[in-house]
Amino acid sequence: MKNNAIRIGLFGFGTVGEGLYEVLKKATSAHAEIVKICVRDRNKKRSLPAEIFTYEPEDIFTDPDINLVVELIDDADASYAIVHRSLEAGKAVVSGNKKMLAYHIEELIELQEKTGTALLYDASACGSIPVIRNLEEYYDNDLLLSVKGILNGSSNFILSKIFNENKGYDEALKEAQDLGFAESNPTFDVDGFDSLFKLIIITVHAFGTYVHPDDVINYGISNLGEADIRYAREKGTRIKLLADVSKISDDKITLCVLPCFVPPDKYIYSVEDEFNGVVIKGECYDKQFMFGRGAGGFPTGSSVLSDITARSHDYRYEYKKRNQYRKMEYTTDVDIKLYVRYRDEADTALFRFKEVTERYYSKDYSFVVGVISLADLVAIKDELPKRNIFIAKMY
Ligand code: HSE
Repeated sequence: MKNNAIRIGLFGFGTVGEGLYEVLKKATSAHAEIVKICVRDRNKKRSLPAEIFTYEPEDIFTDPDINLVVELIDDADASYAIVHRSLEAGKAVVSGNKKMLAYHIEELIELQEKTGTALLYDASACGSIPVIRNLEEYYDNDLLLSVKGILNGSSNFILSKIFNENKGYDEALKEAQDLGFAESNPTFDVDGFDSLFKLIIITVHAFGTYVHPDDVINYGISNLGEADIRYAREKGTRIKLLADVSKISDDKITLCVLPCFVPPDKYIYSVEDEFNGVVIKGECYDKQFMFGRGAGGFPTGSSVLSDITARSHDYRYEYKKRNQYRKMEYTTDVDIKLYVRYRDEADTALFRFKEVTERYYSKDYSFVVGVISLADLVAIKDELPKRNIFIAKMY
């Protein structure tokens, strides 16, 4: 596509689509223009002239003038169909749909190889922070040990409002939704699914391994209660929803998404509101910290812009770790220290603690802190949200 103007067919005109439109107006040297926008809702009032909109996806795929498809829609199944169709039609695609990528990335890597087209998606993880391209290009060696971080802006926003401003959970969630950070299904944000999907994508670029999302523990903050906040404060910590992929031996990695009691000496302790923070640890450089806005139309639109301009010099992910490096296997054969707050003693029977280090009983609630194998936790992952409990990892 060298030296050519980029003519974009855009799918979706929600928070990020509109954000991209505004960002492109400021980026005049990008020589990129949105020429057609495909949307679903014919009745929604739009901020642009009607001529730019279409309701027919094929108008974009078959337009010879469009040389890049950008899809910024919410629905993962529709997103998959668009990306698949674009690659097959020989058009490069930029996508921001983390759920779609977390489930289909393996197949889409193969489809890129087969069709010779490219799929870029830096906007899918951590909004404006360039995590994926850095993992792919700068950290393209064996030194990487772990990538840990706050990958979901909405849940971090809610936690900040609860911890710093004593706001209630529902009020904080409503505020995140009004500000355009939250997913249309807020369960994705608050129950750790969004963080999990981003972690799956990050892991492909950090360690070259695809792990199916269903095989990884994700637990969020929707059951967080007063008692948990009090416990965190007593220990001088803050609760953060943390996603973690760590190398535990020469050929094994482990993944989890769990609320975590974070002590003040950690970089992520100070990541507040809708910001994301990612700590990259490596063998010879210890730790590096990437911080920035992970949600919202303009920050995410900026990341999409970066993928768009990357296409102007034919950039594509090479999946170096996946294709050229030692195969890293996912394991849950590791122990973690877990806090479980509960009301009904019967709920503790779910957890096979190997060792208990702390216990508290009262008439209102109780908690136990102990060591448990991650494999045992993954095994009960679907049962956890059904119980009146809250769990969090000790850092
Ligand atoms: N709902 C997401 C978040 C948007 O809050 O981080 C960015 O992926």
